[in-house]
Amino acid sequence: MNKPSNIKKQNQMQSVLSPSWLSRVALQQPEWPNKGDLDLVLAEIKRMPPLVFAGEARSLMSKLANAQSGKAFLLQAGDCAESFYDFSADSIRDKLKVILQMAVILTYGAGVPVIKVGRIAGQFAKPRSNDVETLNGVSLPSFRGHMVNGEGFSQEERTPDPKRLLSAYHHSASTLNLLRAFAKGGFADLSQVHSWNREFVQSSGAGQRYESAANEIDRALRFMKACGIDLHTEATIQQVDFYTSHEALILEYEDALTRQDSLTDKIYGCSAHFLWAGERTRQVDGAHIEYLSSINNPIGVKIGPTATVDEIITLAKRLNPDNLPGRLTFITRFGAKKIKKLLPPILEAVAELELPVLWTCDPMHGNTFTTKDGIKTRHFDDVMDETKGFFEAHKKVGTWPGGIHVELTGDGVTECIGGETDTAEDQLVNRYTTICDPRLNARQAIDLSFRVAELLRP
Ligand code: PEP
Ligand code: CO
Repeated sequence: MNKPSNIKKQNQMQSVLSPSWLSRVALQQPEWPNKGDLDLVLAEIKRMPPLVFAGEARSLMSKLANAQSGKAFLLQAGDCAESFYDFSADSIRDKLKVILQMAVILTYGAGVPVIKVGRIAGQFAKPRSNDVETLNGVSLPSFRGHMVNGEGFSQEERTPDPKRLLSAYHHSASTLNLLRAFAKGGFADLSQVHSWNREFVQSSGAGQRYESAANEIDRALRFMKACGIDLHTEATIQQVDFYTSHEALILEYEDALTRQDSLTDKIYGCSAHFLWAGERTRQVDGAHIEYLSSINNPIGVKIGPTATVDEIITLAKRLNPDNLPGRLTFITRFGAKKIKKLLPPILEAVAELELPVLWTCDPMHGNTFTTKDGIKTRHFDDVMDETKGFFEAHKKVGTWPGGIHVELTGDGVTECIGGETDTAEDQLVNRYTTICDPRLNARQAIDLSFRVAELLRP
């Protein structure tokens, strides 16, 4: 029989009591109709195994430390909001394919190791600018992601349902299970580099460019084999490290998956490897920042155009008081028109204080607009302009442009305008399937990667 002390060691993680974020103001939380139902669900999630392990979060943090010091590049990508309904092995596989393709293009084209982090296996909750949506005189709670409610415009769908939290846990678990199998079970083997290029991508210019890069990689692999290197035993060729991330928005859910690591006794958020606070919930004294400061994962904060230098410095000190490398990523999302002016003074101030920060660029969220037909979209050229502005600002200040953060899907959707595929405004309706923000399709994502690889080239 196990003694209690051994049981503690065997249970990799322990649940934590009395979270400090509870005493702070938490914005963007749903109004659950029945507290009793919520408590039952939370108790059940607390009994569930962690989705990720502390050791994995630490391994990501050490990789992010490399990105911070200019020795690697972070690619963080996936849906704006994952869906419970558009949920299948194929769609998970296709998202992974496009991320693997992008990583190959960046690694091959720019010669830097690429850290792969999906907005996946937990990105089920959304902050909203308005709590209420009004349509034809009827007002209902806004859609907050499938972890909270449904997107259909009815009282029934829009009423927050705590059972959805449990469903988010199960959807995340099965997504992670598949991702782990793909990452380690042969699918991500570099010798499969051609098979990640889907037919509708192949026919585009970017897809063909990818094919030529893939041919050269094949040639390099054959060369290594001919030199006597046994590629079958090379884990770095056969497998990838793929990490998960999402916005830590619904704090009751995050809290239920927050555990103590029995190896180090430290607290980790175990819903994903990397968690971030969004632009709407990054108040220095707010509950979200308090939550992130209480866990030991690598974490991020979105930084929009209204953030002041002082706020950013306070956040950096508060979230990383021990100056740990790889702990803190600032994800800037200023908009193409503002980045050149806003980013350099921020970079300078943080560099002057020698605060360790990994800087990444989200070129999506500052560039959203609504067409005359009322469709939310983004223009590929704006996405590229903001990305270029990000690289220019870093060049000017002498800091490292450490990564990109994009919303994409593996499908041939028509949600963003422009790019090499030249999706026109009137084509947006053809295949517009996102439940939240417009995403780059796989062709646009490959196109973007080639352009970023050029910017990264020394
Ligand atoms: C998002 O990443 O989907 C998002 C809502 O971003 P932000 O917090 O930057 O607006
Ligand atoms: Co979004």
